[in-house]
Amino acid sequence: MPLYKINPTKTRAWRKLIQQRDILCKKRLNDLFLEENNRLKYLSIEWDCFDVDFSKNILNKKTFKLLTDLARECKITDSIKMLFDGDKINETEERSVLHTELRNFNTKNSSIKKDREKIKSFSSKIIDGSIKGSTGKKFTDIVNIGIGGSDLGPKMAVEALKFYKNHLNVHFISNVDGDHTSEVLKNLNPETTFFIVVSKTFTTQETLTNAYLAKKWIEENLNTKKIQNHFCAVSTNTQAVNSFGINREFIFNMYDFVGGRFSVWGGVGLSISISIGYDNFKKFLIGAEKMDKHFKETEIENNIPVCLALIGIWNSNFLGSQTQAIIPYSEYLNLLPNYLQQSMMESNGKNIDRSGNNINYSTGNIIWGGTGTNTQHAFFQLIHQGEKLIPCDFIGFKKSLHGNKDSHNKLMSNFIGQMQALMMGKNLEEVIMEMKSKKIDRKTIERTSNFKVFDGSRPTTSILIDELNPESLGMLIAMYEHIVFTRGVIWNIFSFDQWGVELGKVLASKLLTEIQSDEIGDHDESTKSHLKKLKNYS
Ligand code: F6P
Repeated sequence: MPLYKINPTKTRAWRKLIQQRDILCKKRLNDLFLEENNRLKYLSIEWDCFDVDFSKNILNKKTFKLLTDLARECKITDSIKMLFDGDKINETEERSVLHTELRNFNTKNSSIKKDREKIKSFSSKIIDGSIKGSTGKKFTDIVNIGIGGSDLGPKMAVEALKFYKNHLNVHFISNVDGDHTSEVLKNLNPETTFFIVVSKTFTTQETLTNAYLAKKWIEENLNTKKIQNHFCAVSTNTQAVNSFGINREFIFNMYDFVGGRFSVWGGVGLSISISIGYDNFKKFLIGAEKMDKHFKETEIENNIPVCLALIGIWNSNFLGSQTQAIIPYSEYLNLLPNYLQQSMMESNGKNIDRSGNNINYSTGNIIWGGTGTNTQHAFFQLIHQGEKLIPCDFIGFKKSLHGNKDSHNKLMSNFIGQMQALMMGKNLEEVIMEMKSKKIDRKTIERTSNFKVFDGSRPTTSILIDELNPESLGMLIAMYEHIVFTRGVIWNIFSFDQWGVELGKVLASKLLTEIQSDEIGDHDESTKSHLKKLKNYS
C-alpha cells in the first residue's frame, strides 16, 4: 500500500497549531518552566541507555498534544507499519524501503542472513591475516572507496568507534579529487593495502575513477595484473564489478530496497566490521534493531523518533527556523553532522508533495553542526546572539571512554551550561547589575551593556546517552533515520528518492567531454568563461 497523501496544512491540528504559535511566540522558555512544574514528565523520555529531554523547546502541554494529533491525522502509526511491512513506499522508484531488515535478526530474508555470515567470516579473515595480499603479506591498511551513502555512514561509524578498533587502519576516499587520492595512497604500502569499492550502481564517476586509480597503483607497484587479492566490492551491479576484475566471492550484496544513505547496516558497513570486529559490528546492528522495536511499538507520546520529529516540525513550520544544528559533545562523533546532512537533506529536501503538487510550507531543514566545545568557540555566537532561531540537538555521554573524569566533567558542564544559557539568556537589568557589581564605571556600562544582552529562549533538545559504544551508536543512527521518515510522512513528501542530485551529474559529464576536447558548446557566458580558463591549464 502506498503512503497516504495528506496535506498537513489542511489538518485540524495544523490550524490549531497556528493559533498556538501566536500565543507561544510571545512566551519565553523560562516562563514556560515557571508556568508548568511538570514539563519534564511529558517532554522527556527515558528509554534503554537514552535520556531524551525536549522540554527546552518553546511549547506547552497543549502544543504537544496538538503535535501528537497532527501525527495521528497524518497517519504516522499506519505509515510506520507500511515501512516495516515492506510496502512500496518509495513510490517514484517503485521500491520498498527495508533498511530495517538489514538489522533485523529475525529476518526471513535468507540472502541478508547469508550476507551477515559473509561479513563476519570475511572481516575475521582480514583481521587475523588469513586473507593476504598478492605477495603473501597480511593487510595493515584498508581503504574504503565510495561516495555519499557508500562513504559517509562507514566513515562516521569507524571514526565514532575508534576506541574499539583493532590494529588495522581504515582510510576513506570519496571525492573525485586526485590530489586527495594521492595523499591517501602515498603513505600506504601496496603489499599490505586492501580496497573495498562500495557503489550500489557501480557507475558513480567519483568511485570508479578512484577505484581505477587504486587498481593502477596496485598493478604498477606490485608489478602484477593479479589485483584480486587486494579488492572487494559492495554493489548490486555484479556484472560491472566482474568486469573491473573483482572475484565473485569478494562481492558483497546491496539491495534495491535499501537506499544508499540508509545502507550502513549491511555490506556497506564492511569497513566498520573490519575495524572493530564482527562482534562489535553485530552490537551496532542490535542497537539499531532495538530502536526499530521502540519506534514500531511505542505510543506516539513516548516514541523518541516521533516526538523529536514533531519538535522539529514545530520549530520549522510554526516558529520559522530554517536550520537545525547537531552538536555532539564527543570528538568521536565529529563526522555525525556530515552524515546527518545526507541522511536528512537528501531525504527531505523536496518541494513536491506526494500528489505531485508544489509545496507551500517548509520541508527539509538545513542540517549543520560540529562538536562541542569546539563549536562554542566558533559559531555559537550566532546561536546565542544572532537574529536567527536555530534549534540545536545536544548529544552527550554520561561516561567518558578513557576515564579522564576531570576533562569529562568539564566537557559535560559545557553541555549543560550552553543549553541553560541558550534558554535563560541575560536581560539588560541583569547585565547592568553584574557590571555594577564589578565596579565598572557608568559610562562604560552605558556604552557596552546592550551588547552583552542575551535574548535567551533559544530551543535545544538533549540526547544524553550512558556511554558511546557500538550498540548506543546503532540506536542513535536509527533514531535519526526514523526522525527523517516521520518528518517526511507528515510533510507529505517522498523521503527515499533523490532526483535532485541527477541534473548536476549529467551536466558535469557533458562538460567533461568539452574540457577534454577542443570544442566549447553553446553555453551561457559564465560557463563558457569557466571552460576557457580551465582549458588553458589542461
Ligand atoms: O548522491 C546521490 C547518490 O545516489 C547517493 O544517494 C548515494 O549514496 C551516492 O550517490 C553513491 O551512489 P553509489 O553507491 O551508486 O555509488
